[in-house]
Amino acid sequence: MSNKEKIQVVSSFDVYKTEQDLSNEDRLLLMQARKSLESAYAPYSHFNVGAAILLENGETVIGNNQENAAYPSSLCAERVAIYYAGAKYPGVKIKSIAVTVKAQSQVINEPVTPCGACRQAIAEYETRYEQKIRIIMAGETGKIFISESIESLLPLMFNKKHLK
Ligand code: THU
Repeated sequence: MSNKEKIQVVSSFDVYKTEQDLSNEDRLLLMQARKSLESAYAPYSHFNVGAAILLENGETVIGNNQENAAYPSSLCAERVAIYYAGAKYPGVKIKSIAVTVKAQSQVINEPVTPCGACRQAIAEYETRYEQKIRIIMAGETGKIFISESIESLLPLMFNKKHLK
């Protein structure tokens, strides 16, 4: 008899072949994320990331990566967008965030996925508003992944429930 047990964490994502296969709402949000690539400031990585957030009140906010000569002072697209949403529409729930990429030196043909810090920031807003946030992830071309919640990208997350 063993004195340990194993738990298994299962993450699932919907995978769409092309942008045309998405719902209108998701496709429009992804288009806004793509548009926001133009105002990314990425002179060091040459890796533009664009994000767009759809709120419950129908408004959208965008974000893109903003880099700094002191590299760690940079901020990713997803956090620029989600903090902008929190600043501009406090108390308004977030439905979805779309994120995409355009790099200077290569065509990214697989979905860009949020970094760990951005996952944590998205998790904060899920717990803040007690509503799952859908995450739409796309490359410049290729398949699109959709996660129904940050839970799939950040299993066993730390959140405010641990501070009680
Ligand atoms: N970046 C994002 O904006 N979001 C991500 O999900 C991954 C990485 C940015 C940070 C940096 O400006 C550049 O992409 C290269 O890492």
